Amino acid sequence: MADATGVDPVSFYLAYLHPVWMLASLAMAVVTLRAGLRLRTARRRGIRKDAADYRSHLRFAKPTMGMLLIGFGAGLLSVVLLRGWDVFSTAHGFVSTTALVLFLATAALGRRLEKGQSREPEIHGILALLSVFSGAAAFGTGFVLLP
Ligand code: HEM
Ligand code: HEM
Repeated sequence: MADATGVDPVSFYLAYLHPVWMLASLAMAVVTLRAGLRLRTARRRGIRKDAADYRSHLRFAKPTMGMLLIGFGAGLLSVVLLRGWDVFSTAHGFVSTTALVLFLATAALGRRLEKGQSREPEIHGILALLSVFSGAAAFGTGFVLLP
């Protein structure tokens, strides 16, 4: 199947849904990260964590993960149904899958921290930074695919 975005205006605009959704998801990830970094500062200084930061971190982290998962599926659908490409035939496919795996690992460790089953906030924080950096790389490699 050929790339429909060149001939069909509806497909053209639909192909922007995934990118716009992902920009919003990454913005949410940055908000989550900022609250996380405030928790980290408190931990490293040995002062008590602000309960508002803790709540806001968790309140943003969970929807962020949901949005990333939905958007990932939408990217794959978009590639097949709108662009007529094979899935994972782009650099963006690999970079964004790496980003998703890092986000999932961050969230899995985050859940364990939340439930008191882990004492490794440092590793959670490092995974979080790597996730956001790879999200930025997904932006770069995705931008060049826009119709
Ligand atoms: C469902 C997902 C997540 C859960 C349940 C979660 C949970 C937590 C919890 C409970 C803490 C406090 C750890 C402690 O000091 O005891 C924390 C810290 C932190 N989180 Fe998350 N988190 C999640 C996702 C994320 C994401 C997506 C990011 C970044 C994009 C992130 C970045 C951070 C950072 C930077 C810290 C501070 C780590 C440190 O103290 O060094 N988290 N998280
Ligand atoms: C925010 C910046 C992003 C932009 C501008 C972007 C752009 C794109 C574009 C243009 C496509 C081709 C389909 C289409 O035309 O709609 C695509 C596919 C895809 N995107 Fe994104 N994307 C971004 C972020 C992400 C992120 C953060 C993820 C994952 C966490 C992701 C996962 C995917 C996947 C899995 C595909 C299918 C790739 C393939 O099968 O080769 N994207 N993206």
